[in-house]
Amino acid sequence: MGNILVSAHNSPHFFQVIKYWGKRDTGLILPTNDSLSVTLSQDILHSKTTISAAKEYTGDRLWLNGKEEDITKNKRMHNCFRETRALRKQLEEEAAQRNETLEPLSTYHVHVCSENNFPTAAGLASSASGLAALVFTLAKLFDLPNNMSELSRIARQGSGSACRSLFGGFVAWEMGSNADGSDSLAVQVAPETHWPELEALICVVSDAKKGTSSTEGMQHTVNTSPLLQHRIKEVVPARMAEMTKAIQNKDFQSFADLTMKDSNQFHAVCLDTTPPIFYLNDVSRAIIRIVTEYNNSSPDGKLKAAYTFDAGPNAVIYAPKENMREIIQLIAHYFPGSSDTYFVDHYKLFESTSDVRSNFKPANHTNFNENAIPVFPEGSVNRLLHTKTDDGPRVLGPEGSLLNEQGLPKRLA
Ligand code: ADE
Repeated sequence: MGNILVSAHNSPHFFQVIKYWGKRDTGLILPTNDSLSVTLSQDILHSKTTISAAKEYTGDRLWLNGKEEDITKNKRMHNCFRETRALRKQLEEEAAQRNETLEPLSTYHVHVCSENNFPTAAGLASSASGLAALVFTLAKLFDLPNNMSELSRIARQGSGSACRSLFGGFVAWEMGSNADGSDSLAVQVAPETHWPELEALICVVSDAKKGTSSTEGMQHTVNTSPLLQHRIKEVVPARMAEMTKAIQNKDFQSFADLTMKDSNQFHAVCLDTTPPIFYLNDVSRAIIRIVTEYNNSSPDGKLKAAYTFDAGPNAVIYAPKENMREIIQLIAHYFPGSSDTYFVDHYKLFESTSDVRSNFKPANHTNFNENAIPVFPEGSVNRLLHTKTDDGPRVLGPEGSLLNEQGLPKRLA
């Protein structure tokens, strides 16, 4: 079969430091405020996608994590197909004007096979990384120009935050003001190489399916929360400017302060919604407490770590490299874990999981009120992932392909 096959994989956008919450246009996915995220390494968490196109295919199909999904009503995926096909069609027409022939891929159906190596629907931004991988892979398949901001406009129509996942490093989604969404796109604030001392610890609190989907939740907030109006008009514009400056200056004090404030306000806005939305649980709140105690114990009064929570109970803790060993020991003390996959480390800071667990020394932390927080039962935090800022989507070779010669999945669940 004459199918054309492209594989790519892409990182999730872990985690937003200025949160996206609220749409002003639900069809075009236009947000009510700017937002900013840090792309973390896809070596640990990624969506991997292969797409093939062939004139013999009789419909567009998707296999997600080894199972075929019905995408006939998936408007968001069809937005991405429609927009990338329109760009491909332009290329085909331009080629025809030069008396050249390009294979009419814009008229073929596609087979998409995608896997997330983390639980889908657990508030780990799987649709953001998945839809970004989809658009990136379609762009490669169709040989579209490598203009990520242009592609981000399309990814945005698949899943809002997906627009940011097309870049590595520190990425802003500019809300724009045009009614057609033409200026609502992502730009890179700084590349992944800009601030290598900044590290991240993802605390996977739960891989259960979320109670309130982001799509549903955020429109309830737009319709009912007076606090959201204050946030989008008075708070975020100034905060985006300060955050951009903090990143450019590698100023951890401002970065940490703004990150925690924005996470807190996002969850306050959720609580200000009728009916209220709760994403944090007891474990999330205990992580906030630990980071707060840890910052209180700082001898020079400087912030040593910052927590943030997206639309789920999972935390990410940002900190300078020099503090990360201590932070991992603290978290592992209060949230013991036993499985081999409990601690995943990009940096090999510890010899083994048991080395991680046994090293908390209260005496090293003056002013740290050790008893303010209980030690939680084993498994309350499933996994600790120590990672860093990294690059955007990568193209994989044919060995990474998830589809076989016939354009069908190599593996089914
Ligand atoms: N939704 C969640 N994850 C996805 C993926 N990897 N590809 C397409 N849609 C998704």
